[in-house]
Amino acid sequence: MITLKNIRKVFTSGDNKITALNGIDLDIKGGEIFGIIGFSGAGKSTLVRCINMLEKPTAGEVIVNGQNLTQLSKGELRLARRKIGMIFQHFNLLWSRTVFENVALPLEINGVSRDKIQSKVNELLQLVGLEDKASAYPAQLSGGQKQRVGIARALANDPKVLLCDEATSALDPDTTDSILKLLQDINRKLNLTIVVITHEMHVIKEICDRVAVLDRGQVVEVGPVIDVFTRPQSPVTRRFINSVVKTDIPEVVRNRQIELKANGSPAKIVRISFIGQSAGEPVITQLIKNFNVTANILYGNLDHIKDTIYGMLTLELTGQEQAVNDALQFLKGQNLQVEVIQHV
Ligand SMILES: Nc1ncnc2c1ncn2[C@@H]1O[C@H](COP(=O)(O)OP(=O)(O)OP(=O)(O)O)[C@@H](O)[C@H]1O
Ligand SMILES: [Mg+2]
Repeated sequence: MITLKNIRKVFTSGDNKITALNGIDLDIKGGEIFGIIGFSGAGKSTLVRCINMLEKPTAGEVIVNGQNLTQLSKGELRLARRKIGMIFQHFNLLWSRTVFENVALPLEINGVSRDKIQSKVNELLQLVGLEDKASAYPAQLSGGQKQRVGIARALANDPKVLLCDEATSALDPDTTDSILKLLQDINRKLNLTIVVITHEMHVIKEICDRVAVLDRGQVVEVGPVIDVFTRPQSPVTRRFINSVVKTDIPEVVRNRQIELKANGSPAKIVRISFIGQSAGEPVITQLIKNFNVTANILYGNLDHIKDTIYGMLTLELTGQEQAVNDALQFLKGQNLQVEVIQHV
C-alpha cells in the first residue's frame, strides 16, 4: 500500500544543513496498522509528511496505492492526497465552525452536493460516536471529542490511508485508549491502512501490527510488534520497551546477586520470556520436579501486546553446576526465550 524507497530529506537553513531523513526504506501493507516510533527529533513527523508529500523528499520515491507521488503533477497530487487522510496532535480544527461544518469542509472543497454532504457527515459522526455534537463548536468539546472530529474529517473522502502524527499525545491515558480503540475499529470496518507516529510505546503495543524504530533519520529496526518487543536489537528499541515492560534488572535483584556472590553460592540468574499459550508456570513446575535445582522467582511481569499475552520471568537457579546446566538446556528446549543474565 505504501512503499518508501531510499527517502532522504535535508533541510537547509542558511549555511546549515540538517539531514532529517537519511535513506528510509519501508513497505507498509494494505489494511495494517503500522507504527513508527522514535525519540524527539528522530524524523517521525518529517517522514509522515513525506508520505502525503506535505514535505517533498530531497531524494527517493513515495509510492502510495500504486501511484508514485514523487512523479505526479500538482493537480494529480491533489487528487491522490484525497485518498490519504491525516490527523494531528493538536487536532487542527477550525474554531469558528461547528463539528458538522468541520467534517463537511473537505467535501465542500471537492464540490460535493449539499444532500450528499449531509448524509456523509452524519454517517461519519455516527462512526466516531459524536452524533449528538453536530452543532457544538470545538471549544465546547473535550480533547478526545476533538480528536474524534479530526478522525471524522480525515475520513470524509473515503481515504485508503490514514496518517496519525502523535494523535494521542495531548490526551490523558483513558482518552488515549478510547481513541486507539476507535482507530482499531475503523481499521477493521473500513479496511483502512493506518500509519501511527508516536513516541509512546504504549500506543504501539495496543494497536500496531508492525513497528519501525526511527533513530536519527534512519530505520534501526522493523518487524512485527511482538518480535520487536521480545527480541529488541538496538539500544533505542530497548529504551522504548523499558518504558512499558521493565526488562532491566531492578536494583533489589542486583543486590541479591551481589549477596549470593559474597556467600559463594553457585547460582545462575536466568530470564525467560514467553508469548501466547506457552505460559511460564507449568515449565517451572517441571523444572523443579525433574532437575535437582531450586528455582527462585526474583522478578516477573505479565502483559499483553495487542491480543497476545506476553510475560517475562527472572529466575535464580541454584544447585550443582551440572544440574543447573541441564535445567538450562531443558528451558531452552521449551520454546521459550532463555537468556542467562549473569553468572554469579
Ligand atoms: N522545516 C524544517 N526546517 C529545518 N529543520 C527541520 C524542519 N522540520 C524538521 N526539522 C529538523 O529535522 C529533524 C527531525 O524533525 P521531526 O520534526 O521530523 O522529528 P520528530 O521525530 O517528529 O520529533 P518530535 O517527536 O519532537 O515531534 C529535527 O532535527 C528537526 O529540527
Ligand atoms: Mg513530530
